[in-house]
Amino acid sequence: MAKNNRTNSDWSANTPLLPAQGPRRLALYRSLRGLIESGQMRPGDKLPTTRDVAKRFGVSRGAAVAAYEMLVADGFAEARVGAGTYVAEAVPLLQAPPAPRPVEIEEARAPLPGALGCSTADGTTLRIFRMLMNRHLTQPSARHFHYNDPAGSLALRVEVAAYLKAARGVTCEPDQIIMTAGTQQGLDLTVRALLKPGDPVWIEDPCYVAARDVFEAAGLNITAVPVDAEGIDVAAGMAARPDAKAVYVTPSHQYPLGVTLSMARRLALIDWAREAGAYIIEDDYDSEFRFAGPPLSALQGIDGEGRAIYLGTFSKTLLPGFRIGYLVVPRPLRERLLTIRRLTDRFPSTLAEDALTEFLRDGHFSAHIKRARKRVKAARDALVEALDCQRLNITIPEQGLHLVAELSADEDDVALAAEARAVGFGVKALSPLYAGPTDRRGLVVGFSGFEPKVLANAARRFVAGL
Ligand SMILES: Cc1ncc(COP(=O)(O)O)c(C=O)c1O
Repeated sequence: MAKNNRTNSDWSANTPLLPAQGPRRLALYRSLRGLIESGQMRPGDKLPTTRDVAKRFGVSRGAAVAAYEMLVADGFAEARVGAGTYVAEAVPLLQAPPAPRPVEIEEARAPLPGALGCSTADGTTLRIFRMLMNRHLTQPSARHFHYNDPAGSLALRVEVAAYLKAARGVTCEPDQIIMTAGTQQGLDLTVRALLKPGDPVWIEDPCYVAARDVFEAAGLNITAVPVDAEGIDVAAGMAARPDAKAVYVTPSHQYPLGVTLSMARRLALIDWAREAGAYIIEDDYDSEFRFAGPPLSALQGIDGEGRAIYLGTFSKTLLPGFRIGYLVVPRPLRERLLTIRRLTDRFPSTLAEDALTEFLRDGHFSAHIKRARKRVKAARDALVEALDCQRLNITIPEQGLHLVAELSADEDDVALAAEARAVGFGVKALSPLYAGPTDRRGLVVGFSGFEPKVLANAARRFVAGL
């Protein structure tokens, strides 16, 4: 038969090493199956004799026979009487899932000065955390040894509720708080609990890409609503999609433009949400860093209707690597969200929670924020000074951890951002953050996580080449 005469694929040079543990027949079965599924052994290839395979892989003959029998039983191989064993002509392969949109993994590389999302935690903060973690490992609570509340530790939620009431004007009790693995998990849980594929939602235009990705991945019908000097244009949203089921907003400091949602717009948004039965997903990611004037209250605090879902994070105030954030939810939604949380990762890390609880309770957090705010402000000032040049139009931000250096509409901000990165200045282009074509051009520059001098040097290198 022609198929028996063809040359076998040569995989012998890369005979896989079997894992050291577990039954040999299973390990061999998995290895051979891997060779078949990866195409290194092709349909119709003759498998070596069981004696040969046992020698090559260093297993007993019996294990090789058993592995071959499993391959045949599962349809990966065919035993032909008197002729040996062959890779099946029709190998049962899993249907390949649709290729996901590639995610930029720039976060995985060491960030350059100017990059967004860098931590402000200093040596003092880390020392306190080391002490707290040590204490919790030396005298571990019983909580660490079993399964816990999917909402997170009650002691931590008590601290977070007190902090949010005092610092952000959020109206909530601890039972409305769900601790999450950062804003990202909070968004994902919210979308899965409240929305279904095809549901219309508004997002800000331009928008935080990681949030837009969640809405896209959930198959929602997205309307990008323009942002102007007063924040999201509620009237434009109502004209485009009055029946939207939810809106994602960054009211206290729009990402990336940095504007604040005006009171008139806040009230209009709440009115619309009440009428439409829609939810307001409020991402309050960096409001702790306010450099002038009183802090702006959260929109959640003026929503008396239970339409707002508030998201906060310790990624900006402490460390993104902590992966701790929180949702504040209207009570009727709590159970639905907790059910999904239980299915996702059961509950948060109790060790990190306990350390953070003490950090908040003993006043370390507010002291840390004061220090961090000062450092970040110095970095902002150094950056603004270093970026002083004709081509960049900068409004000095009074809040947050980034600024936008605007360019004229005929500039190519994507090319300029690449040039900046080539000289070690890790900025992001503004225009790709819009949902469609725009004449807004600019560079989004972070000023947290680097010494003012380091940041200013990187900025100067870039400006010198302009
Ligand atoms: C708009 C916005 N929201 C939230 C976050 C924080 O995300 P997470 O809490 O998932 O780390 C960021 C971080 O860059 C952000 O820019």
